[in-house]
Amino acid sequence: MTRSPDTSFSIGDVTFRHPFLVGSGPTVTTVDQIRRAEDAGWAGASIKLAIEPFPYLNFPPRYRWLKKPRYHIFTAERRLTADEALKLTEEACRKTSPGFVVIPTMTYDGEDLEGWGRLARRFVDAGARIVELNLCCPNMSFNLSSTGASTTKHTGASLGNDMEEMPKVVRTVSEAAGVPVIAKFSADGNMAPLAGRTAVRAGAAAIGHNGNLLGIPDIDIRDPLKGIYRLQDQITLGCMSGPAIRPLALRTTYQMRQAAGPEAVLISSGGATDLASSVEHLLVGADAVWICTETMLRGFDWLPKMLEEFTAYMRDMGFARLADLRGLLSRNIAAASELNVLPGRAVLDEGKCSACGACWNIGHCCAITGAEGRTVYDPELCRACSTCVDLCPTGAFRMERSG
Ligand SMILES: Cc1cc2nc3c(=O)[nH]c(=O)nc-3n(C[C@H](O)[C@H](O)[C@H](O)COP(=O)(O)O)c2cc1C
Repeated sequence: MTRSPDTSFSIGDVTFRHPFLVGSGPTVTTVDQIRRAEDAGWAGASIKLAIEPFPYLNFPPRYRWLKKPRYHIFTAERRLTADEALKLTEEACRKTSPGFVVIPTMTYDGEDLEGWGRLARRFVDAGARIVELNLCCPNMSFNLSSTGASTTKHTGASLGNDMEEMPKVVRTVSEAAGVPVIAKFSADGNMAPLAGRTAVRAGAAAIGHNGNLLGIPDIDIRDPLKGIYRLQDQITLGCMSGPAIRPLALRTTYQMRQAAGPEAVLISSGGATDLASSVEHLLVGADAVWICTETMLRGFDWLPKMLEEFTAYMRDMGFARLADLRGLLSRNIAAASELNVLPGRAVLDEGKCSACGACWNIGHCCAITGAEGRTVYDPELCRACSTCVDLCPTGAFRMERSG
């Protein structure tokens, strides 16, 4: 019998059974939710952000999942107080098995640097084997400064993008906590690669990113001030997540891996929803993936099927351990200066063409037109961009290599 692939990875002395973790967010705010995640087989969960002193931005949640463009967006969100999160950590650590890793996530908003260490230590005393620093939330001071609101606060993404203050925080917490520390950064601002490398040098046992970007959601142009949220009557910059942000998230993962080097432990997130989208994160350099939005929309119980598929995938591909696929692509993504563009052109199978006209008006193409209800194609004018293949609903165009 062939041996099962080894899907585990470790951060310091903490081992995770597989690389799929629930990302910090609204699906991990109670012991009941955390236990449901464990029952469904997740390797661990980063629980909802705790802020001390009392969260300075705290609202009841107002979310939108925009099905068509496939992104989730929100500004209003409820955070946990330190006391709530400590109680949750203590109970979750007690009520889950050692095979499931409970990861408290925290931000300290006091004046003194030592406060970070003290808060982290309280989580360790509550039972945490690992602590995560939220240096990523774009909906705190980063949102305020992005909208021109004056603020003296320096939290979440603002702090994570600050290469002077952030390493002091990472160093202080790593020394005080005595357990591995994960530093989670924002994809917004494109500082995550530098931040990750800086955090590793300051003692972080693992680094990661949220994939999130602040965006302006769809606008009703007939009623532009209405906004899209229900029971929230303003337009705000919102934190985007879900499938639409995935290409940008993958790029952040890739760049963080390049910057931090092969030894760093890197957790990625942004738009993982199934086997393929989760494995993409690993292939560009992540050791593990946080998944949040999909757990909001579908709960936790879809994981066992994905885990089964993941094991089968690793076996099929001949991957014995995670290291075999982790970063496979990050070593093989070519620079624009090194492109290997192959000669060839589009070929039209007239038998398959329904003359629907989808390809007749491609603005950059002089090779295809429509006349008398049929597609007219001149291969001599084809520049082989392949847009016709993407637009054709019947598969009448294909690309053929020449030379
Ligand atoms: C509603 C919501 C709340 C979130 N809250 C937190 C948080 O408190 N701390 C944190 O580190 N990330 C938070 N995130 C970010 C997610 O953990 C995750 O990194 C990000 O959304 C990208 O992954 P996804 O596309 O699977 O959601 C939140 C995301 C959402 C959608």
